Amino acid sequence: MTEKTAKLTLGDLEIDLPVLSPTVGPDVIDITKLYAQGKVFTYDPGFTSTAACDSTITFIDGGKGELLHRGYPIDQLAEKSHYLEVCYLLLYGELPSASELEEFEATITRHTMLHEQMVNFFRGFRRDAHPMAIMVGVVGAMSAFYHDSTDIADERQREIASHRLIAKMPTIAAWAYKYSIGQPFIYPRNDLDYASNFLRMCFSVPAEDYQVNPILSRAMDRIFTLHADHEQNASTSTVRLASSSGANPFACIAAGIACLWGPAHGGANQACLEMLEEIGTVDRIPEFIARAKDKNDPFRLMGFGHRVYKNFDPRAKVMKQSADEVLDLLGIEDNPKLQVAKELEKQALEDPYFAEKKLFPNVDFYSGIILEAMGFPTSMFTPIFALARTVGWISQWKEQISDPKLKIGRPRQLYMGENTREYIDIENR
Ligand code: CMC
Repeated sequence: MTEKTAKLTLGDLEIDLPVLSPTVGPDVIDITKLYAQGKVFTYDPGFTSTAACDSTITFIDGGKGELLHRGYPIDQLAEKSHYLEVCYLLLYGELPSASELEEFEATITRHTMLHEQMVNFFRGFRRDAHPMAIMVGVVGAMSAFYHDSTDIADERQREIASHRLIAKMPTIAAWAYKYSIGQPFIYPRNDLDYASNFLRMCFSVPAEDYQVNPILSRAMDRIFTLHADHEQNASTSTVRLASSSGANPFACIAAGIACLWGPAHGGANQACLEMLEEIGTVDRIPEFIARAKDKNDPFRLMGFGHRVYKNFDPRAKVMKQSADEVLDLLGIEDNPKLQVAKELEKQALEDPYFAEKKLFPNVDFYSGIILEAMGFPTSMFTPIFALARTVGWISQWKEQISDPKLKIGRPRQLYMGENTREYIDIENR
């Protein structure tokens, strides 16, 4: 097989750069030796054309609107599988056998409790703290409690840390919520599945019985599944960069949670619902569409657009269907936000601005409507995304650690500041 190369001409210098071919997707020009050969860097703020690693976990074809986990399409996983099976698939590369799944589920279930002393961390936050702020702090603090799983050179410790993070994240998210509303923490129950357990820890109170509705639990599980991984997005890249220095897994995942919080990323689901609320009625939609198109107005349609998907977001399709099912189940037929969302989607998709820029509803456009209908406040939307994405971060982290090519991540820069100058004494400035 002939090895492909790309030629780069730099003045008189001709440099041959190896071209790597992935299983699917565009070829990648390997520039790792470029500085050594040509004394130049490449420039790509926002990583729009740069592959920062090789990976076997998730593949996205933005043009086709395709998302594959270990080769399996997301719509098949959302329909036929469930979250913990998808976790296993992401972590270990293959769908589990029945006994492997049983063992994995039992392991995750047995790790859902938090060290009791961690309760003090929750109580240290102000009551009005955003649950994402609590999650960043508490997950980072796990490295102070679980010393026996912070040695990243030990494969078994890495595995225990992975299980702990996947298992404890629902407890942490639910407790962050309970703390913010002044209700007692509800401990996990081992006879419930992952999604039901989370719903119960959020909505149960000691004063009365709480029965988990299986349809809501299935919808919750589907939301988790749809958010499980999304290749090298901002928070995953943050986890990889943090981990490249050898930081412990709890610190790396805390960094990922912090990055996810922003409204351009995971925070978009909260921002989207707040936007639907602000729009209020369908007659105000044209005003907001006009604002989104106005270059002098920073407003954007939240839940619209994606760096990679330029046709449709396959997760949004499933989410829209789930939104209809959940609202139907709960007997919410004329939810004003859903009506605004449906009409906003229609009007935006008919507008040439959104068509030309290939802006379509993304996963966050409908997830907020389902979560609100289930009884979650908007502040819990991003924590739910964070708990679901933990397996993706952890899988990418594990893959990176076991990669023999691992180097500390250290981007270069295009320096545009002052050149060397003499220090001026304060009296002469
Ligand atoms: N509303 C109005 N205009 C938009 C929007 C939007 N939501 N998104 C992009 N544009 C315009 C943007 O102004 C730019 O126009 P121009 O070329 O004239 O300057 C063009 O489309 C390209 O936008 P960009 O910001 O260069 O694209 P990007 O790939 O850097 O950003 C994005 C992707 C998701 C950050 C962006 O579309 C956005 O801010 N969307 C709203 C927030 C959102 O819904 N985020 C959730 C993403 S999916 C879940 C996740 O990954 O966490």
